Amino acid sequence: MLTLGIESSCDDTACAVLEDGRVVLSSLISSQLNLHARFGGVVPELASREHLKVIGALFEESLQSSEKKIEDIELIAVTNGPGLVGSLLVGSSFAKGLAMMRSLPLVPVNHVHAHVYGAFLGLETDLYSEENTATMFPSLALVASGGHTHLYRMLDPLDFQLLGYTVDDACGECFDKVAKLLGLSYPGGPVIEAMARRFTDSLGDEASVSSSLEMPKMMNQSSLLFSYSGLKTHLYYLVQKESQNGALSERRKEEICFAFQEEALGQILRKLQIAAEENRDIRSIVIAGGVSANKRFRQMMEEKFGANMKPSKRTSRSIPFFFPKLDYCSDNAAMVASYGAAIY
Ligand code: KG4
Ligand code: ZN
Repeated sequence: MLTLGIESSCDDTACAVLEDGRVVLSSLISSQLNLHARFGGVVPELASREHLKVIGALFEESLQSSEKKIEDIELIAVTNGPGLVGSLLVGSSFAKGLAMMRSLPLVPVNHVHAHVYGAFLGLETDLYSEENTATMFPSLALVASGGHTHLYRMLDPLDFQLLGYTVDDACGECFDKVAKLLGLSYPGGPVIEAMARRFTDSLGDEASVSSSLEMPKMMNQSSLLFSYSGLKTHLYYLVQKESQNGALSERRKEEICFAFQEEALGQILRKLQIAAEENRDIRSIVIAGGVSANKRFRQMMEEKFGANMKPSKRTSRSIPFFFPKLDYCSDNAAMVASYGAAIY
């Protein structure tokens, strides 16, 4: 079955064509980064206008690069939330029009669930085979993006039981806000990661968080809820205090980025460990969403859960974990088509 996926929930317009919900024939994204960068965040009205401008041509292009025709499409999947209302409206109206015109079935898709399918797209085995379902599920799935920090327990590929979520800012949102505090560009995640890496590259194994940069931890450590606003506020006062006598040096910013990133990701690792202890039957952990592009995140998961780590060095029991391919971490339409095909 050939599925067309359409995504426009935030600041990326995306179209993808997938065969059998698994094989990506084309996946195109029109990014609005340059449009919003100078505002340090997404401006909703500008975003919806830009979606409207590009969606028609992007759809044509995605068909062309998949070497298929509109007559070949059998299903349309479109993100219908959560997201920016105006932006969602552009994608869903376009998809509805197309579905009516071609008499095609239309599947509305939850954007946060779809992110998990971004990680599934990298799996080499057939997700729905009995063998793979038995080896992979029950699973813990964590989506960390600019809008969400959701932790699910999944009994099978279609089952999402919400175990935890953020009570304030999302993890990616916190990266973006801290980057802004430090005068870095938007989106903050990749810049903070690069700054932190410069710090660790210069120190190697010696890199550690200095006592002046110890980060606050969420009050209720044992709950599966997340919180990022305290961390952000701490950074706000720290940067204010340290820049009283002049701008922060590049080196200090790098060190702050390192300390911040360790805690922003550290919180996720701690919650995953609690969830894994409370759900002893889980067979895998799936990580998804924009923050999953972070390489230090992958390394920390390896240190905590990796089978390749010696048990004496690992801080938790070994659990197989999966990250998306880099193309499918941030918003894209392949994940939407894949999830749409799965729930159709
Ligand atoms: O999933 P996504 O593209 O959009 C939403 O659904 O929100 O996620 C975007 C978020 C942004 O907050 C961005 O700063 C963050 O993902 N992000 C990262 C990295 N790359 C993107 N956060 C940490 N490290 C990264 N390398
Ligand atoms: Zn997203």
